[in-house]
Amino acid sequence: MQDSFKIAILIGSARQGRIADRVMKWLMPELRRHPDFTYHILDAREFETADRADPSYETVIHNADGVIVVTPEYNHSFPAPLKAMIDALGEPWHRKPVAFVCYGGISGGLRAIEQLKLVFAELGMVSVREVVSISSPWSAFSPDGVPTNPDRLNAAVLRMVGSLLWWTQALSAARAATAKEVAA
Ligand SMILES: Cc1cc2nc3c(=O)[nH]c(=O)nc-3n(C[C@H](O)[C@H](O)[C@H](O)COP(=O)(O)O)c2cc1C
Repeated sequence: MQDSFKIAILIGSARQGRIADRVMKWLMPELRRHPDFTYHILDAREFETADRADPSYETVIHNADGVIVVTPEYNHSFPAPLKAMIDALGEPWHRKPVAFVCYGGISGGLRAIEQLKLVFAELGMVSVREVVSISSPWSAFSPDGVPTNPDRLNAAVLRMVGSLLWWTQALSAARAATAKEVAA
């Protein structure tokens, strides 16, 4: 088995003054506690201004063993810049797991995730059931990303990472077996 799995993290908000930066300040150290994964962050804000044909974006997703989407809820859905990132590619997403960290008002961003699951199903991805959902993120973190209720949030990350690892191992093995069959 390989040492660690590669996870692409998509930041869905491109807004000026976005709360996403606070969420990421808290989230990344929590994710880095888990030695099974290495991370590559892909930011909707940079994607908006970059050349969409940039092959490095495709290479990162192609090489990724799994994906984590960090997104707010906008108008009961997910942000348009995130959809642009997803729609830019096809095959590199296929047969990989995708996990979610979401935030918003009283819904904690969950309505964005319900819609994203439909999109990722069409791309042949498996959505991880254990979602990290944060209600009223403007009061859940200090500007430096220090959570007011770390126990609940960190436990939710632990559950999400455990499930993501299970799916990453299962689907990586299945993709490798298929690749061997094709090569034989
Ligand atoms: C255009 C827009 C639409 C929003 N719609 C919703 C919504 O439907 N439901 C909700 O719970 N929060 C909604 N919100 C609140 C956002 O989820 C919340 O402000 C979040 O922190 C935004 O993330 P960001 O600051 O990282 O962009 C909306 C915010 C914006 C800017």
